Amino acid sequence: MIDSNSKTLAEPNEEEKQRSLLLTRYIRSACDAVDGWIRFSEFMNIALYQPELGYYSGGLQKFGEKGDFITSPEVSPLFGQCLASQLADILQSFKRENKVTGSVIEFGAGSGILAVDILLQLEQLDSLPEKYFILELSAELIQRQKETLQSKAPHLYDLVQWLDHLPDDMGSAVMVANEVLDAMPVESFKINNEKVETLMVGFEDDRLVTRYMPADPATVETIAAIQERSSITYPDDYRSEYNPAIAGWLSAIASAVKNLVILLIDYGYNEKEYYHPDRTDGTLMCYHQHRAHDNFLWWPGLQDITAFVNFTDVAYSAVAQKMDVSGYTTQAAFLLANGLSDLHASQVTDDVQQQIKLSQQIKTLTLPSEMGDRFKVMALTKNYDATLRGFSMLDLRNRL
Ligand SMILES: C[S@@+](CC[C@H](N)C(=O)[O-])C[C@H]1O[C@@H](n2cnc3c(N)ncnc32)[C@H](O)[C@@H]1O
Repeated sequence: MIDSNSKTLAEPNEEEKQRSLLLTRYIRSACDAVDGWIRFSEFMNIALYQPELGYYSGGLQKFGEKGDFITSPEVSPLFGQCLASQLADILQSFKRENKVTGSVIEFGAGSGILAVDILLQLEQLDSLPEKYFILELSAELIQRQKETLQSKAPHLYDLVQWLDHLPDDMGSAVMVANEVLDAMPVESFKINNEKVETLMVGFEDDRLVTRYMPADPATVETIAAIQERSSITYPDDYRSEYNPAIAGWLSAIASAVKNLVILLIDYGYNEKEYYHPDRTDGTLMCYHQHRAHDNFLWWPGLQDITAFVNFTDVAYSAVAQKMDVSGYTTQAAFLLANGLSDLHASQVTDDVQQQIKLSQQIKTLTLPSEMGDRFKVMALTKNYDATLRGFSMLDLRNRL
């Protein structure tokens, strides 16, 4: 359910409020350090990633039914099992071409359950990687991921290594990022009388407030470039977002790995849909206990803040790094092309309850009204020529 305000949200408890107030004090000192106003992306970065206090860095439940939102790996192990089919192909291709198996790198591994599902399935397929790296920003989540792996796949634990940055010189690697791009801080902008304004966050009477201010030349240039390449005309008072970090993120990955496949899975649109004239309030969304609303100033650090992904922008940024856009499709088509139906059939039992549960999970992952269409999968590659089976059913690259 999406609320236009946050009045109906459950009141945080005293301990949570105190934590949020500490984080708010930190936001205040960041504002004071720059004459009162910080960019929205900086606010979002502090709210989500400030060590110990940010939403992803603190000890909140976040994922699953008792948390704030559910991601595909939390819906069903079938998600990770299908992904493993694709990864097994890629690792085998690395071995054929380069005589080394290569590694898997998972960005932002959440509760750690996707790593468990992938590793157990790769073991079944006799395709374990040399190493399974997890690159995670949150110390609290690293701890949780270690516990999940220790309890659900203890015999594979030693294959996993946690990193806080990419190694400089990797030979062959396939990277997985499920719902990571939507958790990256975005800039928020508005068109006012054909001029671009940037959303800033500051304080008035000790309260967090926002204000649009004239955009700096770099932001104006970014918006103009988007308008030109996708023939977009924004109506007056149009508000939306862009991810200022995507090019740098892809560049760091591309320069660290020689033979590379990146699989990005996230909710998003192509650029024309993203900046559709009717989407006048952008795609920013906040989640607290499974309620979606748009008040991103509500108790900083106690809720998720997220924005949809502009996959056309991701594709342009990848091409600028000399990578190929080797696939773009819906989550449903990707999972089905990676054997979802066969995996389902192989797990059929006489237990009716279990069957109903499994069917429900498949519906959630694949129905257009659930995660099937809204979530897309994009493959970016470097020095990799083999076909990627996940994109064989539906190729949407011509829509980018
Ligand atoms: C919405 S959660 C998704 C978690 C998990 N992938 C899943 O599907 O359940 C977003 C995750 O992305 C991580 N994240 C965000 N930016 C990142 C970055 N630049 N590098 C690595 N992880 C990042 C967060 O710390 C968090 O674990």
